[in-house]
Amino acid sequence: MSVSIPHGGTLINRWNPDYVVDAIEKEIELSNAELSDLELIGIGGYSPLTGFLTKTDYDAVVETMRLADGTVWSIPITLAVSKEKANELAVGETVKLVYDGDVYGVIDIQDIYVPDKQKEAIHVYKTDDNNHPGVKKLFEKPTVYIGGPITLVKRTDKGRFSAFYFDPAETRKRFAELGWNTVVGFQTRNPVHRAHEYIQKCALEIVDGLFLNPLVGETKDDDIPADIRMESYQVLLENYYPKDRVFLGVFQAAMRYAGPREAIFHAMVRKNFGCTHFIVGRDHAGVGNYYGTYDAQKIFLNFTQEELGITPLFFEHSFYCTKCEGMASTKTCPHDREYHVVLSGTKVREMLRAGEVPPSTFSRPEVVQVLIKGLQQREAVSTTK
Ligand code: ADX
Repeated sequence: MSVSIPHGGTLINRWNPDYVVDAIEKEIELSNAELSDLELIGIGGYSPLTGFLTKTDYDAVVETMRLADGTVWSIPITLAVSKEKANELAVGETVKLVYDGDVYGVIDIQDIYVPDKQKEAIHVYKTDDNNHPGVKKLFEKPTVYIGGPITLVKRTDKGRFSAFYFDPAETRKRFAELGWNTVVGFQTRNPVHRAHEYIQKCALEIVDGLFLNPLVGETKDDDIPADIRMESYQVLLENYYPKDRVFLGVFQAAMRYAGPREAIFHAMVRKNFGCTHFIVGRDHAGVGNYYGTYDAQKIFLNFTQEELGITPLFFEHSFYCTKCEGMASTKTCPHDREYHVVLSGTKVREMLRAGEVPPSTFSRPEVVQVLIKGLQQREAVSTTK
């Protein structure tokens, strides 16, 4: 039997709907990504974090992939404001956190500091190239960071797919009710294609359940929109997965595209949601050619199993092999590349947008149908605007 203990030992809960914010005057406007971070901190998805990073923790995370107390944490969770806004604020104040006119939380300001973004880029993203979508976003953010514990006072509107949002306490309860002692988490920002399905099912051969946990926060413009993906996941599960062995729930964070560092982060968060295992395949959370194919696996070697508290399951590049007549990987297939059905993400997105159907050896036809229809509808809406 395997048990999932939240990262840092305790599941953080900073959600307090009764918190009265009326007397607080000052406010900070959140970005969309900061709003999702706020909610994830509040519900314990980012345990042991209780707020946005203070300078000591930020420096430690950037330089050592750990919080100042040594706990593994690889991505800085920060709140950025302009210099002008920072001048209005002081350490010790409690300030409202606002998005689109609504107050979602408050922060007790513990720290106001100017980060070295160049250094953050190089350490976290391994590049300061502005063409990297994560680096670009980092440099576009305002220049001062505000650190301190938060309280979540309002939950975000989850829209059409609200049924697939769960707090870590809920997923933990659900996994226990399902009788799952071992649960493997799967991160994706893409539709689930045959290679994804293959590695998930390989994992399902050895653990009790699969937590299919697609990221639905901000992604880059050419990634397939989350609402279209959500429909495709449901169609896939209905047709190809045993119902009692899969749990679909979304991960509301923004994508950072930080490759190896993000793989560690993704694993820690899934541990908080109750996973005992986490899948890391080829170029996890990568973009372009910024990271080596297996860098996101190698980075796990920097930490002991005890420190991680979740078992990473590593998978080699997988594909359909026409000679094997089945799914395989570089570990199991002896045939030349010419027999492998391999399509780049960019190529597939281009095909789908053009209404072209990728082969069923690459993606399930039911999934493709949903994606083409969704993308065409989106296209129709955007051209009539
Ligand atoms: S990610 O940015 O969310 O990591 P993606 O949705 O493509 O991107 O990948 C989800 C997971 O599947 C990651 O762990 C990734 O490494 C893995 N993966 C994607 N494609 C393959 C493949 N062809 N072979 C093996 N693993 C893969």
